[in-house]
Amino acid sequence: MLKLLTLDDVAVEGKTVLVRVDFNSPIDMETKKILDETRIRTHGEATIKELVQKGAKVVILAHQGRPGEPDFTSLEQHAVILSKVLGKRIKYTNDIFGEKVQKAIKELQNSEVIVLENVRNFADERNKGTPEEHAKTEMVQKLAPLTDLFVNDAFAVAHRAHVSIVGFTAVLPSVAGRIMERELESLRKVLENPEKPCVFILGGAKADDSLEISKYVLDNGVADYVLTGGVAGHVFLVARGFDLGKPNVDFLQRKELMRIVPGIQELMQRYPEEIKAPLDIAVEVDGGRKELSVDELPTNYPILDVGAKTVENYAKIIGNAKSIVVSGPMGVYEKSDFVFGTKRIFGEVANSQGFSLAGGGHTVAALQKLELSNKISYMSTAGGALTEFLMGKKLPGVTALEKAAARNS
Ligand code: 3PG
Repeated sequence: MLKLLTLDDVAVEGKTVLVRVDFNSPIDMETKKILDETRIRTHGEATIKELVQKGAKVVILAHQGRPGEPDFTSLEQHAVILSKVLGKRIKYTNDIFGEKVQKAIKELQNSEVIVLENVRNFADERNKGTPEEHAKTEMVQKLAPLTDLFVNDAFAVAHRAHVSIVGFTAVLPSVAGRIMERELESLRKVLENPEKPCVFILGGAKADDSLEISKYVLDNGVADYVLTGGVAGHVFLVARGFDLGKPNVDFLQRKELMRIVPGIQELMQRYPEEIKAPLDIAVEVDGGRKELSVDELPTNYPILDVGAKTVENYAKIIGNAKSIVVSGPMGVYEKSDFVFGTKRIFGEVANSQGFSLAGGGHTVAALQKLELSNKISYMSTAGGALTEFLMGKKLPGVTALEKAAARNS
């Protein structure tokens, strides 16, 4: 059960509703064009559409990139895409809380939508703070009196204690939007009493996150198995005592991942049966693929995938699973010779009758490329927020909604 309020608990017709969404999208560094509209579409087709249909006056707050980085752009094209998604004209203003915005908000009619400027143009936005501290900022002081309700739909940014995520919850009635609700419900399905056996597949490059997630899900009896691949799999192999060979060890050292080996060893001692590392790997030799058993290590070639024996071993475990979480590809799936492990393992997840949840930029991109995403029970829109949730951390954005719900009930 969610301890927060949702759109089912409030009447919105004729109300001015401030909605925080996560429109942050991949941007082409040269043209500055949005490369993937998924997040805009997801919020647009659910929460925003519902508010429009119910006759609310909708004010959208969102961010794109981080100041100083190449993907830090205005939200003008996001508003154009949202117009397309909703099939109606969406207003846009290049201001967050100045006089122009204040006037535009006051003039909004029922079912109209306005997108405000990238909220990270407000210098204090990314300061960490409590809802009460952030409620004193100029942005909250200026916008809150003009609005009746705050809807946080941005699960994917809920791990940030930023002004636009928590500040309004201290002063406005606050509820979760449909995407926030859907993300939390799906995550709770795999983290709170998941149907067993429950399998976590942890790949990708962020091996330190994989260790933290493994610890949490094993120590709390959530996962029955953790299957490792990608760079995470390499570090778990090192922890098991394998010498991966110079190019691979150098890579782990450059990424400062050798420092987590003792932590993995300690976890492996406690969960020798539950944690699985690759049985074989694929290396790149003269531009081609060659598979090696882990007993044949070390190698002078870069390891770019798991091998066929690993796939067979993991497939049996996935085949029996009732709950599956996938975070990170098994190898460098972008290269055609090394897509094998990711294709086969993700294919097993897609064919599973159990509940499957996948998230993170690379995982979602790989599933889309392999045309498997429509066979996954739930595709999360989140990256960092999902990782922190899977580590058992409380997300400030969610805690703030819970506090607001307790205050209003
Ligand atoms: C994301 O894409 O993970 C979210 O939008 C958060 O972005 P941030 O890491 O820049 O806060």
